[in-house]
Amino acid sequence: MTLSNLSREERRFEPPRELAENANVKEEAYERAARDREAFWAEQADRLDWGRTWDRVLDWDNPPFAKWFTGGTINAAYNCVDRHVENGQGDKVAIHWVGEPEDDTRDLTYRDLKDEVCRAANALTELGVKKGDRVAIYLPMIPETVVAMLACARLGAPHTVVFGGFSADALASRIADCGAKVVITADGGYRRGAPSALKPAVDEAVGKAREQGQEVETVLVVRRTGQDVEWTAKHGGDGGRDVWWHDVVDSAFPEHEPEMHDAEHPLYVMYTSGTTGKPKGILHTTGGYLVGTSYTHWAVFDLKADTDVYWCTADVGWVTGHSYMVYGPLANGVTQVVYEGTPDTPHKGRWWEICEKYGVTIFYTAPTAIRTFMKWGADIPAKFDLSKIRLLGSVGEPINPEAYIWYRDTIGGGKVPVVDTWWQTETGQIMISPLPGVTHGKPGSAMKALPGVAADVVTDAGESVPDGSGGYLVLTEPWPAMLRTLWGDDERFKDTYWSRYADQGFYFAGDGAKKDEDGDLWMLGRVDDVMNVSGHRLSTTEIESALVSHPKVAEAAVVGASDDTTGQAVCAFVILRESALQGDGTAPDDLIEELRKHVQKQIGAIAKPRQIMIVPELPKTRSGKIMRRLLKDVAEHRDVGDVTTLADSTVMELITTKLSSGK
Ligand code: WTA
Repeated sequence: MTLSNLSREERRFEPPRELAENANVKEEAYERAARDREAFWAEQADRLDWGRTWDRVLDWDNPPFAKWFTGGTINAAYNCVDRHVENGQGDKVAIHWVGEPEDDTRDLTYRDLKDEVCRAANALTELGVKKGDRVAIYLPMIPETVVAMLACARLGAPHTVVFGGFSADALASRIADCGAKVVITADGGYRRGAPSALKPAVDEAVGKAREQGQEVETVLVVRRTGQDVEWTAKHGGDGGRDVWWHDVVDSAFPEHEPEMHDAEHPLYVMYTSGTTGKPKGILHTTGGYLVGTSYTHWAVFDLKADTDVYWCTADVGWVTGHSYMVYGPLANGVTQVVYEGTPDTPHKGRWWEICEKYGVTIFYTAPTAIRTFMKWGADIPAKFDLSKIRLLGSVGEPINPEAYIWYRDTIGGGKVPVVDTWWQTETGQIMISPLPGVTHGKPGSAMKALPGVAADVVTDAGESVPDGSGGYLVLTEPWPAMLRTLWGDDERFKDTYWSRYADQGFYFAGDGAKKDEDGDLWMLGRVDDVMNVSGHRLSTTEIESALVSHPKVAEAAVVGASDDTTGQAVCAFVILRESALQGDGTAPDDLIEELRKHVQKQIGAIAKPRQIMIVPELPKTRSGKIMRRLLKDVAEHRDVGDVTTLADSTVMELITTKLSSGK
């Protein structure tokens, strides 16, 4: 299989010399890990504190069901908080928490965090939560969210965090699927300058979960906004279930003896959408997950825990928030920023203001955010001192070369390495990424599998493709933070990830990728985003990058719409930079033709969009992924499908209205 019309990207950035000299991980790690993968991961496991040491690093006797560090015992919360306090780091700030309302901030030291986690663990025990019970968490980005997760981990009660923007229906189906009997929530959170309620959705979800056979016994509520809430008190004698967090946690005892759980004890379930139907409950367990996340956080971000100030902007409601805001960074004992709100509240420079104030040194965000900032203009970050930043990370979707360069130049002062990190909810840990002190940067490439990780790009038949060709991304060896199964559905686990290359025993990631002439990896998005135009395989990502490289374009989404002649045709939805708009807010007449020609020039005539629609917004999920399915509905003139998982469900209306008005 070959991918047609791959555009050329020739820019290269060497690792800064000082960073390379002092890098945590050097070139030799690749070879060492390849020589003895298990010994390599055992060495990484030593960075954690275990109750009992493992007997076996990897048990792969019954694939695809992996067990890592069997016989070992460990407590994730102990590793994320207590041990730092015991090691004399109690006064170090763990979290600089920044609320959305200005001046609403709180610093928690590792000691504060330990005391709070212990109190919450004691309070949950008092409320009847035992090891093995599932707890749903539906909270905004506040310190209590981290505390609640770690308290659950401490008790061995797997948590399932549901993004605070999800609907009552989504929450109910997750509660029912994993059988949660406790929900931890808040009255509300701050979003775009105003309190936004959470408790009513929980009340509704609890009713819906009951219809699906799951009874929630307790709803533990953090008071965040102070807004009015419906209340049925748990101890009020009327069969209620609500309990205030401050009533039971604040008065609880701040000491709690952590039990060392089996390394394979379930840590959490994270739901992620499949292509259709029921969401999949990705199950992560304790020992291997903590090894995988703490090692990669240390290696990929070249973490210097004594001096770095780290900020990952992801919401805790998706996996990046779990692996790279909670478990990885806290296991590594770093100081980090956690921000509650949106990047444009109360002004479009809020993130950069926060970076300046706390002296952020490592910054990790998503391409969709970067492209938004490009749209807003470089003059906004230019108002702030970002000189402490020494490393930039990207995750969630392919980063277009132009977005990469903008990020490096505008946020990184033209000298800071960008690490493009590929991974999934399922992989738990970063799998493919440059190492900032070793690998040179190629804008748009995630480069290669990390030490201890084995990936390849293969054909339909499972054969490794030669350099210069494309195919399907697979992972060819088990890794510590890999998902263990789908909650309650071993068959679907096998079908979804392991059946396609059953003969070879590969994990099928569902992503297209290509190897360039040097053998470096370029991620091309989900395979369902690959179009076939007149028999040519075209990547949506590549055409999007071509559009974004035009100076008037801020963001672009491309879909393959069915076409009588060509099979599929390229349809593009484009957001223009503000500077490209005319005085009345409309686009100049000849711009669409200019953009079509631009794509033709960048990639080739085959990639020239049949249609380009200028839109004000793009439909995105809460984790920032563009929902191309909905755009395809528009391009194929259908009624727009289910919009409930959009971060902003009004976006599709905005797009269809705009298009029908013809401006
Ligand atoms: C995509 C997010 C290209 C990919 C951590 C993957 C990426 C899916 C990258 C997983 C990247 C994530 N380059 N594509 N650096 N990172 N993806 O489960 O399609 O929300 O399969 O995990 O996002 O998304 P998920």
